[in-house]
Parts: sequence; structure tokens; C-alpha cells
Amino acid sequence: MSSTLIRNGRVITASDDYVADVLMRDGVVRAIGTALEVGPDVKVVDATDLYVLPGGVDTHVHMENVIGPTITCDTFASGTKAAAFGGTTTVVDFALQTAQDSVLGAIARAQRSAEPQVNIDYSLHCIVTRVDAQVLADTRHAMRHEGVTSFKMFMAYPGVMMADDAAIFQMLRQVGADGGMVALHAENGTVIDLLIKEALEAGHTSPRYHAMTRPAIMEGEATHRGIRLAELANAPIYFVHVSSNQALKHIVAARDEGIPVFAETCPHYLLFDDSVYSSDDFEIAKYVMTPPLRTPDDQKHLWRALRYDDLQVIATDHCPFCMKEGHLGYRLQKQRGKDDFSLIPNGAPGIETRLASLFDIGVMQGKLSLNRFVELTSTTPAKLFGLFPKKGTIAVGSDADVVLFDPAATQTIRAKDLHSNCDYTLLEGRTLRGKVEKVFLRGELIVDGPDWHGREGMGRFVPRGEVRAF
Ligand code: URP
Ligand code: ZN
Ligand code: ZN
Repeated sequence: MSSTLIRNGRVITASDDYVADVLMRDGVVRAIGTALEVGPDVKVVDATDLYVLPGGVDTHVHMENVIGPTITCDTFASGTKAAAFGGTTTVVDFALQTAQDSVLGAIARAQRSAEPQVNIDYSLHCIVTRVDAQVLADTRHAMRHEGVTSFKMFMAYPGVMMADDAAIFQMLRQVGADGGMVALHAENGTVIDLLIKEALEAGHTSPRYHAMTRPAIMEGEATHRGIRLAELANAPIYFVHVSSNQALKHIVAARDEGIPVFAETCPHYLLFDDSVYSSDDFEIAKYVMTPPLRTPDDQKHLWRALRYDDLQVIATDHCPFCMKEGHLGYRLQKQRGKDDFSLIPNGAPGIETRLASLFDIGVMQGKLSLNRFVELTSTTPAKLFGLFPKKGTIAVGSDADVVLFDPAATQTIRAKDLHSNCDYTLLEGRTLRGKVEKVFLRGELIVDGPDWHGREGMGRFVPRGEVRAF
């Protein structure tokens, strides 16, 4: 394999910030130093005035995920290409345990689909919807032999994905003891379903009622319950897509008590607030994601928690559905709910804009340091989900997943310029400061400005190890 030297860039990791040369050979970082001398066989890339960042790690994405009667509109191919253009070189997607297959069957099925398509490295969390002796045995096998060390469970969506408290407790107890992580979607599903039913009976069918029937207090209640289950199980727990201070206050209190509670938020909760839900326009379906957008006061608390480590990860929850029915052949997308908000598939795109949008609203606006930006988008997700130090940093021996980022460039975001199959972006027309210039996956240049050099299938499944967070 060829070697590349990144010359004179500003190397930024979760802990360091210095100008250096980075030598990549055979897929890994071989040397970091100043004025490194290399032979003529080594390609030299000048990174003067650019940041040299570890490739982004996005631990919450949904490609080809079947959700009810529909499917997210990114394939593993389109979604991972979009990720790469956005500076993300590793994603952790989901394998869904259905009524038809086992935990191990679900993982094998997702791998069969992903393997020929992925443009960047990937792994899988397994979504567990029911728990019995076989599921627990398969879970242990997946952790020991398949490199799948995290399992997602839902407190929402009764009758579809929701697991009861005892099932969640059983998984927490075993997975925690085995060194893995249970990730929880925390919302009180049965109360929310009642509120949805009542809203529809009252004739409230437009998309904004999605937000009005998923109150933050029910996110808070479920978060509190999840924490108590984890405490009883003596296990770490990870909350996905935290959106509100109602949830956050329980996370902060638990961490202060020394309970190993970890949590992510997503860019959309930082970029937008609930003022978007102010009309009955169907366009609002773009913002139908779960949990919904919250108040400016919630945002203020999310930023505080990001700064002071009560939130440790910013992942996208990239869960794209098209607004136009039939776009690229995708059916039963957002329009499915045009007469009934509860039928709108939940989720929004965001995989390609994560780093640039957070750099703009976080770093440039003085809310996050550069090191913290890297920690939240690459290093800590890698640590929490057993990918570190192979992923999540720039260090000798780590995978040469490297992003050259230009802090002085600006870009105006348009869905037509992005690489997702989704026909919209929440950031349409927004100008961001900062831009991904080049992306290397295990030392290979895959993104060079607007040009694509990657190949479908070049991504690899990364078997994950134990949680490394405390
Ligand atoms: O809106 C979202 N987050 N869609 C994905 C499914 C879920 O609720 O986690
Ligand atoms: Zn969720
Ligand atoms: Zn999700």
C-alpha cells in the first residue's frame, strides 16, 4: 500500500493541538513529527493552514433501516459516502432483532447488506426488542465472538420496538457485567401513545402535533427510570438523542452520584428549536424526528452539558426519509403521514453536515474548544463503543482515518450538493464557516474537495471491544 505524508498541518486531537507532519503507511499512522524526511515513493500533501483531525465517528445512524412499513432512504452506499464527504470515517449503524430472527441472525443480515456497499468503516449496535434465555446467550456470543458490544433498547413505540423495564434490566445486568453498553431510547411510550390517540380523536392531524404529543417531561421520566434500572443492575448506560433539560437533569444528578451514565445529543437539537412547529404546514414533517425539537432554554442546557461533560457525544441520529413521495423510487416516506402525523416516519438527515455545522455553531461561536469538538465527535464515541484507540484519535498505530479541515473556508449547504439520497436538508441555504477538504480512510484518499475517490465495499466491519470510559 502507498504511503502519504501530511505536511505541516495543525494536528488537533481531544487533548493536543500542534503543527506537525503525519506519516501514514499501510493504513495506519506510522510517525508524527516535525520536518519528517521521506523518500520519493511517499506522496506529500501540504496541509499548511488546515486542521488535521481524526476521522469523525458517528455512533447513531440509520441506513436501510426498516421502520414500520418503510425504510430509511439512504443505502449503506449512499449514507456512508455522505458521511465521508462530511468528514466521518466510521459509523455505527443498527442490526434489528425482528420477530423472525435472532440477535445473531440480525447482525449477520445487516452485515450481508452493508459489506458490499460501505464506503467507510462501520460497526453495528444490535436493537433488542424482546429478551429471553436465547437472546441473552446470543448477546453474550455477539459480544465475545462477533465484535458487537452494544445493544439498543426502546422505552418508546409500544407494540413495535418497546421493551419492558424487566427486559431492559436483564440486558443491562448482563451486558454491563460483560463490559458492554446498553443504549436506551428514553421516552414513556405508553403515555405518548395515549396522547397521540387523543390528539387524533380531537382532529389534530398536522405534523406539529408530533411535537405536542411527545412532551419533554416524558423523556425525563423515562431517563430517570433508565438510570434507576442501570443503578440496580450495576451497569453503565448510554442515552441516545437527549433533547431536553428534563432528561438532562437526571443525567447530571446521576453522574454526580457516581453512576456511570453517558449520553449523546444531536446537531438538530442545537441548531433548531420548537419554534418551527408553529403552523399546520406539512413542510414541518421535515422536523418530525424523535424526540422533537425543544425550547431555546433546553438548548442552553444542552450546550452547558456539552461543555462540562454531562453530555459526551454528538451523533447525528441520521434517519432520512424523503419529503417527495417516489424520490429515487422511495415510497411511504414523509407523505405517508399527510393526513395523520402519527404515520410520518420519524427522523431527519444530518450525516454529512455534522462536523461543519458543529464547527460553525460550536467552535466559531465560542461554545466549544477545538479539542472538545474532536472529543465529542470522534474520540469519546470511539471510547464508549469499544473502537478506541484504533479509531477516534491521531496517534502512532491508530488507523490513518484523517480529515483535513479548512477553518477559513465557508460553504452554503444545499440538498442538491449533498450525497445522501434524501431530498432535503434541514440546513438548506445556511452558510457555514469551516469545510472538510480531504478525507483519508486508513491512509487512502477518499474525498478530495468535491471529488470522490472511494469505492463501495472498501469500508470494513470493525469488531469492537469493551467500553473504555471510566
Ligand atoms: O426520529 C428518530 N430518532 N428516528 C429513529 C427512530 C428512533 O426514534 O430512534
Ligand atoms: Zn430513538
Ligand atoms: Zn435513531
